[in-house]
This record gives sequence, structure tokens and C-alpha cells, in this order.
Amino acid sequence: MQIEFPKNFTWGVATAAAQIEGAAFEDGRGASIWDGFSRLPGKIRNGNLPDIACDSYHLVERDVEMLKELGVDSYRFSFSWSRIIPEGTGKINEKGIAYYKKLLALLKENGIRANATMYHWDLPYALQMKGGFGNREVIDWFCGYATVLLDCFGEDVDMWATFNEPIATYVGYAQGFFAPGLRDEKYARQALHHLLLCHGEAVKLFRKHRFENSKIGIVVDVWKHYPAREDNDEDKAMAMENNEIRGYGMFLHPLFLGGYSKMLTDYFESNRMTPLMQEGDFDTICQPLDFYGLNFYNGLYDNADNVREIEKIRKSGGNYQDRPENHPEALKDVLRMLVEKYHVNIPIYITENGMPFEDADGKEANLDDQARIRYVKDVLIWLHKALEEGIDVKGYYLWSLLDNFEWSAGYAARYGLYYTDYASLERIPKMSAKWYAQVIR
Ligand code: FCB
Repeated sequence: MQIEFPKNFTWGVATAAAQIEGAAFEDGRGASIWDGFSRLPGKIRNGNLPDIACDSYHLVERDVEMLKELGVDSYRFSFSWSRIIPEGTGKINEKGIAYYKKLLALLKENGIRANATMYHWDLPYALQMKGGFGNREVIDWFCGYATVLLDCFGEDVDMWATFNEPIATYVGYAQGFFAPGLRDEKYARQALHHLLLCHGEAVKLFRKHRFENSKIGIVVDVWKHYPAREDNDEDKAMAMENNEIRGYGMFLHPLFLGGYSKMLTDYFESNRMTPLMQEGDFDTICQPLDFYGLNFYNGLYDNADNVREIEKIRKSGGNYQDRPENHPEALKDVLRMLVEKYHVNIPIYITENGMPFEDADGKEANLDDQARIRYVKDVLIWLHKALEEGIDVKGYYLWSLLDNFEWSAGYAARYGLYYTDYASLERIPKMSAKWYAQVIR
């Protein structure tokens, strides 16, 4: 079967600073919450640390060479706040700025557009010591950081995203298995409210620059939950709560419809965790955006009688080689929901999609990653169907360029198109890299 994508469709790959850069304590970089969290016993699989990761701080030329080999139009990466402003506020680290200038220059030289995220989960540790996102002052801290980014890199970045997957802050503050490792839901709810305000204020700052060629948006992942048994009320209630109270509803409602949903508001009240808010907050949060970035991995089916099994799937990354639990078709449904329920009437980019292999599968199986190719192919087919229905998807970014530090899974989960040999730091193209290059061509 052959399907054709629009000529101007953007093809890309994605990474994030904390997952690839390494050089954690070099050239003036300050610690981030992931540097601290990963040192707590038992938090990261095999006790892995992000200190070296793929060493992209030193191997940036090789990374760009790989982008060229793939033939991507655009590279999605993130800035490390603590590399640029080591303590989160105050002194700027010129060596950090120089690193990103070099990356952007290399991209430009090779005709690859930059899609850059301001915040991909790595809050400066010094700011966490002051309460992190739980402290309303974070809005000023974030605006200070965003100002530096916009002043230094401005229109060299084609697409700016304020945040990647804000839900990570919920996981880190309420559930404890991401940095900073807290388990306090009330605090987490407050933190998310502040995070959304940081987003809104950063968009306002961006608008003040009146850039002609850059756009701004946000990246929110959607793991849509469905009832496993369509006619089972408990399954239905469970899926609905997972979507509205602990899932995408937390963000999409305030960002695109304004305010928190009735269901979330009631939940806050009955659990005494309504965040402190100020007048005008919801207007700040609901800024007009130029694009929406959707990270899509899978659809999830909730069975109230089998909660354990579902937790297992979710923790293992949600999709894995050829499993019946893989639901690429959910992509089209999610896209339609964005348009119909949340009135997202701006261009949409799939900013992440991919599939993990286990390091334990061995190098050979990792290099011959047919199951990844099959899954991505299925996702692209569903994406194409959505295009045919008239949904305005403008691009697709595969996660990830290379195997990297996969948060609490450490180096055990490999998502790359390129295999990272963590001993030699050599990058080796997998079957999927060759396949993806061909798709792009
Ligand atoms: C997403 C994250 C990204 C990566 C992939 C596998 O949730 O945004 O950093 O870890 O999952």
C-alpha cells in the first residue's frame, strides 16, 4: 500500500536536553531536579544516572549528521534551563548559550528547521529548593528564563513550545515516580496551576517580540482512556476520571476552553485541593496559540476489574512490540476529539510518537527493530486517514533520534532510530532509521 502526504508536510525527530546532553556538571551547568532525583536509591532502573547520557553536549556534530542522514525537515529538541541559568535565576552561563548557538547554526547550515521546547521536565534544582512550581514566584523565574531564550535565539527557532507534557509535573509532585519525587497531590495541583500561568506569560512575552517567522505553541500528550467494556458503568467512570481528572483534561480545558472543567472543579472541592488562584489567571492561561503539539503513544482501555494489569502497561511505556494493547487507531480519534471537544482550530503537529525496545532484548534485536517500523507505519496510516478527514495536521516527529536516558526507566528502554552504545557513545543506525529516511524521501 502506498499513501501520500502533502508536499509541505514536516518530517522530524525529537529529543530532550536532560535525556541526551550529558555533561551534567561541565562548563558551568547547574543541577536540575533530575540530577537530584536520579541519585535517590531505587528511583531509576538499574540506578542509572543522566550525567553522561548520549554526550550530545560534545557530540552535537554527529547528531546533526544523523539528522542529515535521515533527511528530516525539522529537529525538535529542548533547552536546559540550568545549563543556561545555572541557579534558575540570576547569572547567565555564556557557555550554555554558546552550545545552543552552535546547534542552531549547524541546523541552519543544513537547512533543518528548529522546533525548540523551553521546558522539558528539568527544573533547576535551586528552584525546587524554593518550592519549584508550587511557589507562585515560579512565574517570574520562568519569564526571566524565557526572556533570555527569546532574546538569544529568537527567530533562529522556527517553532517554540513553552512546555512539553505538563503532566510530568503532576507525576513528579503527586505520584513520586518522576523528579522531584514528591507525593502530595494538593501541592501538585497548585504546581500545575502555576505551570499553566508560566505558559501563558511566556506566550505573552513571545508576542511582544513580534517575530515574523517564528511560531509558539505547547505540547500536551494525550493518552486517551476508553472503557474496556463499553456497557460497563464502572469502566466508563474510570476512563472518564482518568481523562478529565488525571489526564489531558487537566490541561486542554484551561488552555483551549478556559477555566477548569466542572468535573475537575468538583473534584478539587470535594478533596479540598482547589489551587489558590488570582483574578485573571484563566485569561492568562488561555492565550491564542499558533500550533498545538500532540505527543501520541497509545490509547488505553480501562477495566475496573483489572486495574493492576493496566497499571503494568502504563508503566512499561504504554506500547511495546506487537502487543494487542497497542492502539495506533486511537490517534485519529484523539485528533478528532481535539477539534470537536476542545475546539483546537490551529495547526496540529504530532510532536512525539514512537516505541521502546528493551536494552535486555539485546543489541541485535534492537538494531533489527521491525516491530517499531510496524507500529510507526500503523500510526502514519491513521494519521493519513485523519488528514483525509480534513484535520489540519502539519507534521510528524518520531521519538527519538537516538536511544537516550528514558527518565525512570534509565537506559533500559531504547526509543531511538539510532542505537546508542553507552560505552563508546557510538551511534548506529537501526533498521527503522533506514526505513524512516525512505519514508521521508
Ligand atoms: C514522552 C516524553 C519524552 C520521552 C517519551 C518516550 O512522554 O515527552 O521525553 O520520554 O515519552
